[in-house]
Amino acid sequence: MSADPYLLVTDLHAGYGAAKVLHGLSFSVAEGEVTAILGPNGAGKTTLLRALCGMVKVRGEIELGGTSVAGRAPEAMARLGVAHVPEGRGTFGQLSVEENLRLGAYRHRDRVRIDADLRRVLDYFPVLKERLGEAAGGLSGGQQQMLAIGRALMLRPTLLLLDEPSLGLSPVVTQELFQIVHTINQEERTTVIVVEQNAHLALATAHHAHVLETGRIVLSGTAAEIRADERVVQSYLGYQV
Ligand SMILES: Nc1ncnc2c1ncn2[C@@H]1O[C@H](COP(=O)(O)OP(=O)(O)OP(=O)(O)O)[C@@H](O)[C@H]1O
Ligand SMILES: [Mg+2]
Repeated sequence: MSADPYLLVTDLHAGYGAAKVLHGLSFSVAEGEVTAILGPNGAGKTTLLRALCGMVKVRGEIELGGTSVAGRAPEAMARLGVAHVPEGRGTFGQLSVEENLRLGAYRHRDRVRIDADLRRVLDYFPVLKERLGEAAGGLSGGQQQMLAIGRALMLRPTLLLLDEPSLGLSPVVTQELFQIVHTINQEERTTVIVVEQNAHLALATAHHAHVLETGRIVLSGTAAEIRADERVVQSYLGYQV
């Protein structure tokens, strides 16, 4: 694994108009790593992902692969390879599974390679292969999350931002989903930042983790360090560890 900081965030502030949500976050993510963002409701986890993909106004510095990108629009961030799978997935229920996936490739023109990408994505999510022509709205929650991640992969992302992929899914489906995210990270070397309520699973998949509270990072470390921290164990993991 390369140790280059692919993403470098320094003193990041963000919010919604007068409502300030992030109060000076600083952290880095090495290329090819999975980073988990943990924290209670309202801590600013979603806002952090929105800040990283240009959806909210920011103050501070965001460097991606050595380039300063703070303040760039979502479209510019997508061009740089930042793919965002938002809370609630954002797939198009009326469109077919294949149409949703191909939409993810909207900024590519090379049809042969797009077809190859599609085959690769379907290898990660074989269940979608059987439903290619069906309306996305008819998929189960887990399949829709797979579709949303698959669509993000069609962008050929270098940085994949996942916002609570397990929301509303059963433990078995959630586990399956994280296994696929792990495989994608291993095979594609995609850098991943995942916001997740299921701290056990997130920490099992991630290399590093940051705990966010009221817009500040209160704890950072390797996944193993975070798992071993008493505060995290009490707040998020119960006594099962
Ligand atoms: N569009 C918005 N306009 C104004 N305030 C917002 C908006 N979205 C979120 N907020 C506020 O920003 C704060 C952080 O919200 P955010 O959604 O980032 O938290 P979160 O950690 O993702 O929470 P959750 O675990 O519930 O998803 C909250 O106080 C929330 O009310
Ligand atoms: Mg959220």
